Amino acid sequence: MNGKRITLIIGGGIAAYKSCELVRLLRKAGHQVRCVLTKSGAQFVTPLSLAALSEDKVYTELFDLKDEVEMGHIQLSRQADLLVVAPATADLMARMAAGMADDLATTLLLATDKPVLIAPAMNVRMWAHPATQRNVATLKRDGVHVLEPDEGPMACGEFGPGRLPEPNDILAAIEALLADTPKPLMGKHVLVTAGPTHEPIDPVRYVANRSSGKQGYAIAAALAELGAQVTLVSGPVVLPTPSGVTRINVETAVEMQAAVNAALPVDAAIMVAAVADWRFPAADQKIKKQDGEPPLLQPSENPDILAGLCQSPQRPRLVIGFAAETEKVIDHATAKRARKGCDWIVANDVSGDVMGGDRNTVHIVTASDVESLDEADKGDVARLIAQRIADALA
Ligand SMILES: Cc1cc2nc3c(=O)[nH]c(=O)nc-3n(C[C@H](O)[C@H](O)[C@H](O)COP(=O)(O)O)c2cc1C
Repeated sequence: MNGKRITLIIGGGIAAYKSCELVRLLRKAGHQVRCVLTKSGAQFVTPLSLAALSEDKVYTELFDLKDEVEMGHIQLSRQADLLVVAPATADLMARMAAGMADDLATTLLLATDKPVLIAPAMNVRMWAHPATQRNVATLKRDGVHVLEPDEGPMACGEFGPGRLPEPNDILAAIEALLADTPKPLMGKHVLVTAGPTHEPIDPVRYVANRSSGKQGYAIAAALAELGAQVTLVSGPVVLPTPSGVTRINVETAVEMQAAVNAALPVDAAIMVAAVADWRFPAADQKIKKQDGEPPLLQPSENPDILAGLCQSPQRPRLVIGFAAETEKVIDHATAKRARKGCDWIVANDVSGDVMGGDRNTVHIVTASDVESLDEADKGDVARLIAQRIADALA
C-alpha cells in the first residue's frame, strides 16, 4: 500500500502509551503520522515522545495563533486520508456523539470530511454503561468506524471488554480501511445471530443447548473481512468479538428477537443462533428440592425469530436460516426453508461432534438448488458462505 496521511488523536486513557508503538508501526509501514494530543492525553504520554516517533510537530491546542494563521484546525482535518482516535476515551466519544467542538481533537473530528476510525479503551464498567453504548451506537450511525475493544485483564484489576487492541491489530484495521482494492461487501450491513439462548427457570438455573457460537462468529468475521458492516447478536458464549464486528449480547430468545428487530434495516441476515423453542415462567427464588416431586415446568413457545424476520416489513433482501439436523438433513432443511419463508437454509448434520467442534459439513439449500460443501474447518465454511452472500448481494 502506498504511504497514507494519518492524523492520530490520542485521548487521556491509561492505554495511551500504546499510541507510541502505533506511531512507530505506522511510520515503519510507510505512512505519514500527525499526532494530536488531548490535554488529558498529555498526562499519559509526552508530546516529545510522539514528536520524535512521528518526526513531526505534535498538535495540542485549538487556539494556537501560529497554526491558525492558516486555519490549522481545518487543514489538519482535511489533509489526512484517515483520522484515527486511539485510545478513544468515554469522554471523547460522548463529546463526538454530541457534536461538540470544545478542544482541538473534537473540532478536527467535526470539521473533517475524511473517514474516522476510533479504538475505544476504558474500564469494563465504563464500556458497558448504557451511556457509552448509546454514544458508540450514535457514532456508528454517523459513519464512524469502531474497532471493538479487546477482552482481558485491565490495568484497574478488573476483567472484561475495554482493553485497547494491540497496536498491530489497530494497524491492520487502519490498513484495511485504507486499502485501495474495493471489497465486495463494502457499504452493506449484515446481521448475524450466533450461540445458544439461555431460558431461565429460576435465578440460578436455565435450559440451554450445546451451541458454541463458533460457526456464527466465524461467519461474522468472514463477512467483516469482505468489508461488510456486521452486527452480531450473540447468545452466551465464550468467544472473542471478531475484529470490526459490533456485538450485542443477549441471553434469551425474547431478548434476541428484540435485538434483531433493533438492528434493522440490514441488507442481509444470517440466523445461525440455536434459539430455544421453549421458555418457562422463571421462579423469583431458587426452586427447592421437594421429596419425590420434581418441579413442573410449564413451557410456552418462544417467538420464531427467523419466520418473524421473513414477514417483517423491513425484511432484508437476503435472509438465511440455519438448520441443525440429526437425520434427513436435506429433506428437513428444504421443508424448513419453505415453512419459514427465507431465501436459503444452511443445513448441517449435528449428530457427531459438530456442536462445539471446529469442523462442519454444510449444505446450502435454496429455492432451486442444493449445494453440498465438503467437510471443512468452520472458518473455511464461513468464508465460502460469506462469498456466496457477496455474490448474491452484488
Ligand atoms: C489514571 C487515569 C486513567 C484513566 N483511564 C481512562 C481510560 O482508560 N479510558 C477512559 O475513557 N478514561 C480514562 N480516564 C478518564 C479520562 O482521562 C477523562 O475522562 C478525561 O476527561 C478524558 O479526556 P479526553 O477525552 O479529552 O482525552 C482516566 C483517568 C485517570 C486519572
